[in-house]
Amino acid sequence: MSNYHIKHLEEYFQVYRKSVRNPENFWEEVAEEHFLWRKRWDNVLSWDFKKPEVKWFEGAELNITENCIDRHLRTRGDKTAILFEPNNPDEPAQHISYQQLYERVNQMANVLKSQGIEKGDRVCIYLPMIPELAIALLACARIGAIHSVVFAGFSSKALATRINDASCKMLITSDGSYRGSKTLDLKAIVDGALESCESIETVLVAERTKNKIHMKEGRDLWLQPLLDDAEVKCSAEPMKAEDPLFILYTSGSTGRPKGMVHTTAGYMVYTAYTFKNIFQYRETDVYWCTADIGWITGHSYIVYGPLANGATTVMFEGVPSYPDFSRFWEIVEKHQITHLYTAPTAIRALAKENIEYVERHDLSSLKVLGSVGEPINEEAWHWYNDNIGKKQSPIVDTWWQTETGGIMISPIPFVTPTKPTYATLPFIGIQPALMDEEGKEIKGNQVDGRLCIKFPWPSMARTIWGDHDRYRDTYFSAYENKYFTGDGAMRDEVGYYRITGRVDDVIIVSGHNLGTAPIEDAINEHPAVAESAIVGFPHDVKGNALYGYVMLKEFGETRNQDNLRKEINQQITDKVGPIAKLDKIQFVNGLPKTRSGKIMRRILRKIASKDTSNLGDTSTLLNPEVVQEIMDNAL
Ligand code: WT7
Repeated sequence: MSNYHIKHLEEYFQVYRKSVRNPENFWEEVAEEHFLWRKRWDNVLSWDFKKPEVKWFEGAELNITENCIDRHLRTRGDKTAILFEPNNPDEPAQHISYQQLYERVNQMANVLKSQGIEKGDRVCIYLPMIPELAIALLACARIGAIHSVVFAGFSSKALATRINDASCKMLITSDGSYRGSKTLDLKAIVDGALESCESIETVLVAERTKNKIHMKEGRDLWLQPLLDDAEVKCSAEPMKAEDPLFILYTSGSTGRPKGMVHTTAGYMVYTAYTFKNIFQYRETDVYWCTADIGWITGHSYIVYGPLANGATTVMFEGVPSYPDFSRFWEIVEKHQITHLYTAPTAIRALAKENIEYVERHDLSSLKVLGSVGEPINEEAWHWYNDNIGKKQSPIVDTWWQTETGGIMISPIPFVTPTKPTYATLPFIGIQPALMDEEGKEIKGNQVDGRLCIKFPWPSMARTIWGDHDRYRDTYFSAYENKYFTGDGAMRDEVGYYRITGRVDDVIIVSGHNLGTAPIEDAINEHPAVAESAIVGFPHDVKGNALYGYVMLKEFGETRNQDNLRKEINQQITDKVGPIAKLDKIQFVNGLPKTRSGKIMRRILRKIASKDTSNLGDTSTLLNPEVVQEIMDNAL
């Protein structure tokens, strides 16, 4: 079908117009021609953003693993599906062919079944970036179990919260994980979490680091012996289009993490279609997304999107700085990578290092570069474009979210002229709107506002696990009949979008979406702390870093402040994870509050960013006097 692979700008506009004039027809054609269905749909789309309720391809039956694996066996059985590059460069890479992936997924699926996992059960996956991680996702999908991957950098507390929220029956983990020169004791974190998780019946443990670990009798089982005994065939469970495929947690500005629920058919169609077009993927390409499968980027663009296209997708276990800062470029050369999809924070970190790390390697295999996770600043964009792409490989700055399931605004390489810091044009089928604070849509160009989406797209999250009201309140109540993204954006004179950042209390640190509430909760649990507020401030590598304002219980607390700072960060590491540690902690005698008692983060943000020339009106504060004191002692 011609519109599966867009080749020039005129065609983009044509296909775009078609996709918004008649979305049902458009997506029906894509779904018909490019996927394997057990049963055809009765209805392409029904939707109501008030409830909210969205259903794509209702009545259809399918299994996503038949689309990602089985259907490739005849033509691509020996082709590498997953190319695993270990943390240690001296350990050989593994090329897992489609045929081998088929067998390994089926074996894992049979193990899940033999351990009592049934369709609809939730399986938590807490694994490092080893092949078992991708295989575990697919094995769940094969039998209709709902996977809930928790990034293996989260703490015991954070893991337990997520397991309990979805009442997961099983946990799949490993004895440990490698991260650069460190070996982490993953199983000990799991053991800590499971002290407060009633629902877990079985823990499957993959062997990776040979750490000495405790195996709890009657609960913990080594995975490999079970796999060795399992059959290499497992029939795929026919799933309904709207059956949940997975839950993935994202932080919100308040309260507990939100378990975003993604369903089967629409997610598959959209991630596959975007992968093909936004990366212009060709049969012999070697595609590498450096994200962790613990985030949505890894779900959609390491596992499902690439495999649905029969692609070779790289999984990298390590970090960009190990054994030294040339690791990414060494991998590009070694595996002749054609597509590199990474995050601005990684680009900035690598750009700081000696350029020789780059120059030592032949990067001529690269064709397309990608960026995701946060706004890419101009300097990083140019460094990436000049030194990595040699001005030959277009950068696709892809804007999307855990909630959107797939890329929403992005250039199409070789089709859309790029512009530094701009995510450019909405992808096919995506109808953005910029809204003002009164709830009116801002039309025309050269404007900015709050970014909403006016019409459903196939891969949007359908609900928050166990809390549909929160789903409605968070995304569909700010603007009538629109999905609100939480981001601000501007539209330039030709209609290109530039995402300017969050307009709510979510802070993006190193591309990780951190809600203020869970971090503040963790700080406040310290016995010496009365209250706290955190804000982001600009950081040249992380994009944003965290600045905490902490009010102690005892006025003029005599304890050593540096020790207290360490304890507070330890508290955050234990409760949320090391990614949420604060760069700066200022002790204050009070936090600026509105008369209704809400912390005025706007002021704190300005102080943290050293931008105090215009603090706005502080006279309406309950306690305006604290502002000067906070400014005087700012770090
Ligand atoms: C938030 C979503 C989906 C990818 C990983 C992050 C920010 C994401 C961009 C971009 C500017 C971006 C937004 C968004 N963001 N990509 N290309 N340009 N901002 O997923 O954790 O759900 O975070 O990341 O603020 O709302 P996430």
